[in-house]
Amino acid sequence: MDLRAEVENRRTFAIISHPDAGKTTLTEKLLLYGGAIVTAGQVAARKRARSATSDWMELERERGISITSTVLQFPYHGRTINLLDTPGHQDFGEDTYRTLLAADSAVMLIDAAKGVEPQTRKLFAICRARRIPLFTFINKMDRPTRDPLELLDELENVLGIGAYPVNWPLGGGETFRGVYDRETKELHTFERTEHGAKRAPVSVAGVHDEKIRALVDEGTYKEFIDGIELLEGAGAPFERDAMLRGDVTPVFFGSAMTNFGVELFLDRFVKMGPSPTARLDASDTPVEPDDEHFSAFIFKIQANMDPRHRDRVAFARICSGKFERDMTVKNARTGKEVRLTRAMKLFANDRESIDVAYAGDVVGLANPGSFAIGDTLTDSTNVRFPPIPAFEPEHFALVRSIDTGSYKSFQKGIAQLREEGAIQVLYPFGQTRIEPILAAVGALQFEVVKFRLESEYNVKTQMTTLPFTLARNVSGEPDAITGAQLPSNARLVEDWDGAPLGLFESEWSMRLAAEWNPRLTFEPFATRGLASAVAS
Ligand code: G4P
Repeated sequence: MDLRAEVENRRTFAIISHPDAGKTTLTEKLLLYGGAIVTAGQVAARKRARSATSDWMELERERGISITSTVLQFPYHGRTINLLDTPGHQDFGEDTYRTLLAADSAVMLIDAAKGVEPQTRKLFAICRARRIPLFTFINKMDRPTRDPLELLDELENVLGIGAYPVNWPLGGGETFRGVYDRETKELHTFERTEHGAKRAPVSVAGVHDEKIRALVDEGTYKEFIDGIELLEGAGAPFERDAMLRGDVTPVFFGSAMTNFGVELFLDRFVKMGPSPTARLDASDTPVEPDDEHFSAFIFKIQANMDPRHRDRVAFARICSGKFERDMTVKNARTGKEVRLTRAMKLFANDRESIDVAYAGDVVGLANPGSFAIGDTLTDSTNVRFPPIPAFEPEHFALVRSIDTGSYKSFQKGIAQLREEGAIQVLYPFGQTRIEPILAAVGALQFEVVKFRLESEYNVKTQMTTLPFTLARNVSGEPDAITGAQLPSNARLVEDWDGAPLGLFESEWSMRLAAEWNPRLTFEPFATRGLASAVAS
């Protein structure tokens, strides 16, 4: 297959949802239909097995959150699907943001009884900012649900995205009997199968078939027909371009747990969903996915993923060209050449080496410290992707190692966790770097860092929360920066690369600093709009 055909075959997406909407279940069923696993329960079982073997996962389990992130690849109807697993907790916004940067589309999973939930809104804001195509799967139709028209209304009014139902449910909860496909004008009937590994039988008939009427009571049938007529009469026709711009979302109804609607969704998703498209580099030049030059960017680094392999894996999303094992590429940030020897695909704890991969694919690279988040890897001379922005932190804490004997491990741990993007690390401006100030979007990140320093680096730490709530980039002449006069409750710090930042307890304190220092500017991070959308 040539490069273009390989690229057009790829579908790289992530699922976004509020915890408990059924992401694990849907992921598992997608893998089941994709033939990547043979029985349902494997993903959940692996999730449980992992929590049993690793203390780190214990933290995750206790909090009922999913912070594991794997890239699952499987073939489906001749296509190659890459499913990027996003962390499930709201405090991990930055991590999720970076994963969504690597996706070409997203599937928004909604619990039919609950509709749009807070976490759905936050993750949607990230997709909206990137304008990636979004598919919607309304799950748990086998249980009592809200009115489907009301759910569509919520997508339009709460999220501001046009909703185009690809199929429409016949009944809901106890009366759920299937979905009507608006394009093929077929009804796929639902049969309650045991919660388990079997594929649900699906049979098809015309919508005005007497058999359908016989499936439901008069009221349910009337609601169904009224709904269909309303959609056909008032709803706008589906426009693929509007979907590609992220203005309209195709909506599917189903029940992941009972396997219903998952195959219908997957069939349509591989047809309608986008293949990798051109990505803009830092100078706004499009890099076409079928360009013969290889390019990729690192969107995630994870240390100590598995206690059995105490190493670090950098995940690279390929944007153009072909990856071949042992190829030599350049890291555009450092200018150094790197040989990509140990490239791998990860499935839960299993690793498999990769020989070739194409735009849209993700490869895990053993990382001997040569990669950082946002790095561009390429064999072209001039491609460099824009840096991945750090979110504006809203929580700050001073961290110190309790046991002075482990100071070296402490420094190593802090450096590696920063490199992974688990935390931002600041120091008092212009001073010897001894005690870092950690900065995060969500306060839970501090606990994660504390826990990981102890379990992975054997370092006990003490964290002292600092009262700042705002960080601002500070710019001006060097003498104005070193001579800055700040209110007593504010602080001048520097980030890892030495760039000055002001930390403030309030907007008021920040404005006072601006008044006192007319030669300095105090600017919000470029991601502020996004961060506040995510935080609200
Ligand atoms: P998450 O990853 O989004 O947090 O959700 P997960 O898949 O773990 O699902 C949350 C709960 O919702 C699970 O129940 C799961 O079985 C259930 N669920 C998922 N999809 C459906 C569906 O289509 N219909 C119904 N009725 N339930 C669904 P649990 O009791 O927490 O776990 P389990 O004992 O079933 O594994």
